[in-house]
Amino acid sequence: MAVRRLAPAELQPKEFAFTAENMAWAKKQIAKYPEGRQASAVIPLLWRAQEQAGGWVPEAAIRHVAEILGLAPIRVLEIATFYTMFNLAPVGRYHVQLCGTTPCMLRGAEALKKICHKRIGEQFAVTPDGNFSWVEVECLGACVNAPMAQINYDFFEDLTPESFNRVLDELAAGKNPKPGPQIDRQFSAPEGGPTTLKSVKAKA
Ligand code: FES
Repeated sequence: MAVRRLAPAELQPKEFAFTAENMAWAKKQIAKYPEGRQASAVIPLLWRAQEQAGGWVPEAAIRHVAEILGLAPIRVLEIATFYTMFNLAPVGRYHVQLCGTTPCMLRGAEALKKICHKRIGEQFAVTPDGNFSWVEVECLGACVNAPMAQINYDFFEDLTPESFNRVLDELAAGKNPKPGPQIDRQFSAPEGGPTTLKSVKAKA
């Protein structure tokens, strides 16, 4: 895993504070934990901060979460920098997390990586129109439908260069491509439909 650092100062907003709605939500999360264990809410609070900031966690948000939880900022910083689910620099409107772990690599992730390089650029770069950014990640748990990528909250699976390009084209055009397998199968069922348990009647 690459070293994870905060975005440079020129990209950092000076201030961050939860909206009233998010602060009310944060208080509810904190109340779920026993007295003295409020720090356990750090991950959900960072996640909400990332959503509010448009897909990344600015340093000011880290300080804000630390203040709410009564923690030293370094304690929140070390969590934000450890978990790759937290983006430390601005991302595109559509942030592509491309799985490059062995099953996906064996099933064609390298070709998808080339498409990311060609269409989006270097990892963590944002396209000039603000639409896309990408990063290679470790296994996202959908190996049975490899190769795959997560784009924002959706998984796109059984990708080929053609279907991956189509998904990116549709997103760029403001459409909502169908998530899940991009071939003819339901979830991780066999391609083309069920191959077992097809008989309606049980044998005597
Ligand atoms: S290896 Fe890609 S999802 Fe598991």
